[in-house]
Amino acid sequence: MGEERQALERALVHALDFLGTLETRPVAATATAEELRRALVGPLPVGGTPARQVVDELVAGAAGGLTGSQCGRFFGWVIGGSLPSAMAADWLTAAWDQNAGIHAASPAASVAEEVAGAWLKELFGLPPGCGFGLVTGTQMAHVTCLAAARHALLARQGWDVERRGLQGAPRLRVLASADRHGTVDRALRLLGMGTEAIEPLPVDQAGRVRGPVLAEALSRSTDPALVVLQAGELNTGAFDPFEELVPVARDAGAWLHVDGAFGLWARVSPVHAHRVRGVERCDSWTTDGHKVLSVPYDCGFAFVRDAAAHRAAMTLATSYLPAASQARDALDWNPEFSRRARAFPVYAALRELGREGLASLVERLCRHAQALAWGLGELPGAELLSAQGFNQALVRFRAPGAGPAAPDHDRRTDTVIAAINASGEALFGGVTWRGRRAMRVSVSNWRTSEADVERAVAAARRALAATSVVPPGTSGA
Ligand SMILES: Cc1ncc(COP(=O)(O)O)c(C=O)c1O
Repeated sequence: MGEERQALERALVHALDFLGTLETRPVAATATAEELRRALVGPLPVGGTPARQVVDELVAGAAGGLTGSQCGRFFGWVIGGSLPSAMAADWLTAAWDQNAGIHAASPAASVAEEVAGAWLKELFGLPPGCGFGLVTGTQMAHVTCLAAARHALLARQGWDVERRGLQGAPRLRVLASADRHGTVDRALRLLGMGTEAIEPLPVDQAGRVRGPVLAEALSRSTDPALVVLQAGELNTGAFDPFEELVPVARDAGAWLHVDGAFGLWARVSPVHAHRVRGVERCDSWTTDGHKVLSVPYDCGFAFVRDAAAHRAAMTLATSYLPAASQARDALDWNPEFSRRARAFPVYAALRELGREGLASLVERLCRHAQALAWGLGELPGAELLSAQGFNQALVRFRAPGAGPAAPDHDRRTDTVIAAINASGEALFGGVTWRGRRAMRVSVSNWRTSEADVERAVAAARRALAATSVVPPGTSGA
């Protein structure tokens, strides 16, 4: 017991030290992979090491290799931070070490998951009877929802896919936004449908699929169709116009699946809910807990209108497990068997924020993203490529004296991103968007403040000055 207490107390001290120095430590990791290997890799230990020492040495070895994704100036990718109650509940989840696969193994985990699922459906305005799966992230939420879609679409053709598989099955069409996230493709690969099944739906400049485009694509065949849309395009934060698209898909009898990894949270804010108007009429939805909701990794949610199809695609019964009575066994709704009780941190985060706190969190993230995008866009040589009013934006940096589409702008953009990141003041990612390099501005951390936005813009201003190139034949003024 003494050793256990010592190890946990050391973990608390180290965790508080890490969180307490987020303001002063560099946002990007500073150690190279080689330095980390030197610090962490050694021969496989033959004998044991006291737990407290293991914790201390892990912290020392990882130092420099941790990014500041918990900090308010981390704008690379859509990562999100962790709320205090969610972090604490996550520690308890480890201490309790419950197997949340079946109710009998942890009644508390099972009921916490039921509650979290019901609250989330209410927040998103989804049908209370729809199926709910608590998975590792949007990736596995796609797998869960698309397995349910595969079940339902093939069952309508008289084909039992769980029993017979896909060999010889009727053809399923997959119509997906050309700007979809790569996790959709991987889900289709894992489900045996393959990426060749995808018919990409052309998008507008912001990344939205429009009604006539979907209507034309659906009219090309009468085969059963699965349509994948987005609430929140990865780079622009644009939303597919669900009100326009849902009736088109309904007329064709298609299954409508929504990737709402971060954007489905628009639904909880009166200011942003209009962006997802009509989304509740789709058939399945995915989103993450580890992004906007700010629970620790890894946490994602799958919702399926046809709960019977969801359950049929996932359920598993074995004689050594007690049959569920009135209780809910999570393994009927997830692709996992044994699993972490990740409902506890979700339950905690939802209680810490409440409906109002969540709405104001979403609004704050979007406000900061816009302030950051416009602040960066006003810097000398900067060009704001996209700012749709949500939490994502794109900026590029133009090389002085170069033409509109010159590769010099791409190089300049990458140089400025690298210089900002090297300064340790903020972290941004880059992307090739519509053929041009751009800096992604992604605000998804509850800690981000106005001061963080100002600090990031100042860091970008300094990076621009430090890397400025005076084109030949100009005064550089
Ligand atoms: C739009 C979108 N879809 C899917 C994903 C994948 O989510 P996860 O990493 O939780 O699997 C992401 C991740 O950033 C995303 O932004």
